[in-house]
Amino acid sequence: MKNRVCELLGIKYPIIQGGLAYVGNGALAAAVSNGGGLGQIGTAGRSIDNLKKQIRIACESTDKPLGINLPISEHSDMNPVVETILQNKERFKAISISAGNPKPYIPIFKEAGLKVMVLTGSVKHALKAQESGADIIICEGFEAGGHNSPLELTLFSMIPQISRAVQIPVVAAGGIVNGQGIVAAFALGAEGVQLGTRFVATKECEAHENYKNLLVHAGDDATVVMERSIGRATRVLKSPFAEQILEFEKTQPTVEELLPYIRGVNNRIAAIEGRVDEGWMNCGQAVGLIESIESASDVVRKLAHEAREVSVSLGFMQTVFADNVAENV
Ligand SMILES: Cc1cc2nc3c(=O)[nH]c(=O)nc-3n(C[C@H](O)[C@H](O)[C@H](O)COP(=O)(O)O)c2cc1C
Repeated sequence: MKNRVCELLGIKYPIIQGGLAYVGNGALAAAVSNGGGLGQIGTAGRSIDNLKKQIRIACESTDKPLGINLPISEHSDMNPVVETILQNKERFKAISISAGNPKPYIPIFKEAGLKVMVLTGSVKHALKAQESGADIIICEGFEAGGHNSPLELTLFSMIPQISRAVQIPVVAAGGIVNGQGIVAAFALGAEGVQLGTRFVATKECEAHENYKNLLVHAGDDATVVMERSIGRATRVLKSPFAEQILEFEKTQPTVEELLPYIRGVNNRIAAIEGRVDEGWMNCGQAVGLIESIESASDVVRKLAHEAREVSVSLGFMQTVFADNVAENV
């Protein structure tokens, strides 16, 4: 095993596919794991029957370690999802917990034998997660697609501060789509990376082709952040629907008033049904670097290859920063 993240998760490369609401299906998770990373099934946006189906598909398609993602919602009953995960506990190596307070859930999943990864967006929350027994911190920067911490801290500043504060391994998430991003994250103190948007633009992801094509053709300014008016931050692709939400948010709506726009079904309409002008789609800021829709296994292998190449190419820095050259040259 190569580092602490590989060791804890039993994987070849410290590359994790983030839990993806609506589009984190079993075939995608298996393809990522077959490529040498950790694929995760997303529970958000799934019925229990569909979740069971995705677990079955993933397990039939790989014998490599798999993960599952659990975004905590204070407004819905988490028990059926938690029970389903526990019923299938021997099929998962790890769980990632995001959104709400992970504290009550960490001991439950650790007792079930899973490694627990907690998504955080600040030093304070990373320390709390470590104290509560998390095995890995996933440090998610504001560049990331989907729901982000309202603190809006970016990855470049956050990883060194979190990795200095905690003793457990830190995985960087947000704005990483290639080997350069991986090497940069490691230089800052991360021991692994989690990618979301890159894995949506893959053959196995169940996102609609219209969504995938938008990702491949998007540029550096393709995303906007919605839900700030209600104290949240969700990074999505610019679209007529997203612009409509931003306009409505200028009127300072209540959560109840905004809900008809931001509810999951509007994500489903665009991301799964492909009616991209009628809903919103999660997307990270580095989307401009995604150029093709490939197999997720190939994406993982390519990322590992690029990370090797980039790290070797940085050998020149030893000369740039050498202290044995004459000054003023
Ligand atoms: C389509 C999409 C759906 C997402 N859904 C979830 C989710 O349900 N749970 C979660 O923890 N993170 C979710 N995320 C965040 C990812 O797991 C990951 O941390 C993030 O995408 C990393 O940033 P990137 O998109 O720049 O790679 C989602 C991201 C995207 C792009």
